[in-house]
Amino acid sequence: MDLRNSTILITGGTSGFGFEFATQLLALGSTVLITGRNQAKLDDTKRRLPSVHTFQSDVSDPAAIRQLYQQVTTQFPALNILINNAGEMRKLDLQDPALELHDITREVEINLSGPIRMVQQFLPHLKTKKTAAILNVTSGLAMTPFPLAPIYSGTKAGLRAYTKALRVQLQHTLVKVFELVAPAAKTPLADPFASVLNDSMLMDPNQVVAQAIRGLQQDRVEIYPGLSRLMRYMSRLAPGILLKQMSKGVTEAFAQSRVQA
Ligand SMILES: NC(=O)c1ccc[n+]([C@@H]2O[C@H](COP(=O)([O-])OP(=O)(O)OC[C@H]3O[C@@H](n4cnc5c(N)ncnc54)[C@H](OP(=O)(O)O)[C@@H]3O)[C@@H](O)[C@H]2O)c1
Repeated sequence: MDLRNSTILITGGTSGFGFEFATQLLALGSTVLITGRNQAKLDDTKRRLPSVHTFQSDVSDPAAIRQLYQQVTTQFPALNILINNAGEMRKLDLQDPALELHDITREVEINLSGPIRMVQQFLPHLKTKKTAAILNVTSGLAMTPFPLAPIYSGTKAGLRAYTKALRVQLQHTLVKVFELVAPAAKTPLADPFASVLNDSMLMDPNQVVAQAIRGLQQDRVEIYPGLSRLMRYMSRLAPGILLKQMSKGVTEAFAQSRVQA
């Protein structure tokens, strides 16, 4: 992919990987558009990256996606790359009786329904371009679940399956479909998991994104930075051992919160 002459829309561009993508793609010469829900965070990002274009939009809201499409394609008809990056990860005790039915699937709406709806809305536009791409940000947890974050793990496995299917369906079009299988990294998303993810397990988001950009430039459709590559092999060779490893600290974490409650 030629990223220099591309116009790229990144969902969730105000922090973590999204902010890094915006920073590194602007440095390459791309035109970069970002979204997020929080206007103050968008304004702060605009202050730090003056050439970025910001749009307040909640990826879990279909009406907001329709509105975003109108705004973006009117103002930036050259748009040719979509990066589905926005995501949320919660530590959830599935035995907690306080979990509400309407809230328990929140990550599904953001991490899985969001990218699916974004693709559905933007695909006809992307298909009009000579070169176009969709990059979906999944996770090492798409290959083995992290029981502390059960719904999140399900969304990433679902997004990975959807991404593979989408790639097959678009194989005779000019739209390339990429997957960034991101490893655990030092971003605000990982903060609530500090008790089980020590610093040495967390990759610098700057490096994850640098590898993702190289992958896009080299047309590598599945990109596995850092520990994701190891998780890929472990999930095939020794899935039971990997799940056991990912399950450490779960019983203790929830037993403690049940006692406190
Ligand atoms: N960090 C990790 O260890 C890790 C590992 C593997 C995969 N990932 C994936 O990488 C992606 C980025 O995560 P991150 O670590 O960079 O997280 P982050 O630092 O928490 O950033 C998340 C970004 O998404 C935005 N966002 C959240 N919900 C949104 C919504 N409903 N609509 C629009 N924007 C929304 C946030 O802004 P607002 O809150 O203002 O909306 C923020 O800009 C996610 O898909 C995550 O699952 C992360």
